[in-house]
Amino acid sequence: MQNRQWLINGRPNGRPLRDDDFKLVTAEAREPGAGEVLVRTLYLGFDPAQKGWMENIGGYVAPTAIGEVMRGSGLGEVVRSNHPGFQPGDKVSGMLRWQEYATLPGSELLKLEDDGHLTAHLGVLGTTGMTAFFGLYKIGRPFPGDTLVVTGAAGATGSVAGQIGKLAGCRVIGVAGGEAKCRWLTDELGLDAAIDYKAGDVRGEIKRLAPGGIDVLWDNVGGKTFNALLGELAMHARVVVCGGISRYESEGGSMPAGPENYFNLIFKRATMEGFIVLDWMSEYPMARARIREWLESGKLKYKEDVQEGIENAPRTLMRLFQGENFGKQLLRVS
Ligand SMILES: NC(=O)c1ccc[n+]([C@@H]2O[C@H](COP(=O)([O-])OP(=O)(O)OC[C@H]3O[C@@H](n4cnc5c(N)ncnc54)[C@H](OP(=O)(O)O)[C@@H]3O)[C@@H](O)[C@H]2O)c1
Repeated sequence: MQNRQWLINGRPNGRPLRDDDFKLVTAEAREPGAGEVLVRTLYLGFDPAQKGWMENIGGYVAPTAIGEVMRGSGLGEVVRSNHPGFQPGDKVSGMLRWQEYATLPGSELLKLEDDGHLTAHLGVLGTTGMTAFFGLYKIGRPFPGDTLVVTGAAGATGSVAGQIGKLAGCRVIGVAGGEAKCRWLTDELGLDAAIDYKAGDVRGEIKRLAPGGIDVLWDNVGGKTFNALLGELAMHARVVVCGGISRYESEGGSMPAGPENYFNLIFKRATMEGFIVLDWMSEYPMARARIREWLESGKLKYKEDVQEGIENAPRTLMRLFQGENFGKQLLRVS
């Protein structure tokens, strides 16, 4: 079977992704060995961290090599199985990478219920949802009545964090790029307010909307917006550092300087903590069950942005850094 694959062909450190960072090749799909499963990729899921993996920064995943098949999570259908846990036709998720067929040990695959929420396993029922759930509860520690501010609020992770904040009884203000995304946050998701950071003065808007300050700050973006919000913390605020997508704007260096307003952590006796969601993997089943209940009762909503065709994988990843995605970025492969 012919298998189109995208290989890593460049290191985008300190600069935006380019087309020539990836190379499309065609190989034969590998037949599964003992304990392995051959999977046909149906959808790929995209995350800004994939650029960081190509840059080999962070050290929390094994280094990538030029010439390896680009890493990425996906969901697919079992074609052939030499593992007792999987039958042809089963739907599975795992690190399928950017290719039409993946041959993986069965132990690295998760069997999915084909229950109408299939693609959600790459988003709200997958790592995206786990990130929002554990980052908010374990680090943000929201209390009813707290003011929670979420940046990247209309994105996959931010939109779940904001809604979980509402379920926890917080007053939630989302920060996102553009009027349409801001309207979706308030009108569809029920957030209390939204600020369009592209339209102007984020700090002034926060002063107006949250005069008592921010109790929980969830940051996905870093940079100027994060710095502005750090200046408006309430006493004993918790700052959750989930991501920093704006760092990719900076040419030359791969990491930006720290925010000027970090000193406010002292004045406000605040804490700031980063995390990698993988550390809570053993607790995922509990969070997944809770999120599924919220989905089924209509308390949690999600949006997907589905592009088409394996040939468009690099361009689909680039959409995240331009804010072109509206919802969880997916690609339908077959
Ligand atoms: N710590 C962890 O374990 C963990 C796990 C998963 C994800 N994350 C992080 O969570 C964040 C969100 O990831 P996601 O997969 O949910 O992606 P996403 O939010 O769906 O997509 C990225 C969004 O970032 C915004 N953006 C792009 N460039 C920006 C800039 N220069 N300044 C401000 N905003 C910008 C865009 O929204 P606008 O249109 O609103 O600008 C874009 O839609 C990322 O930083 C990711 O690395 C962390």
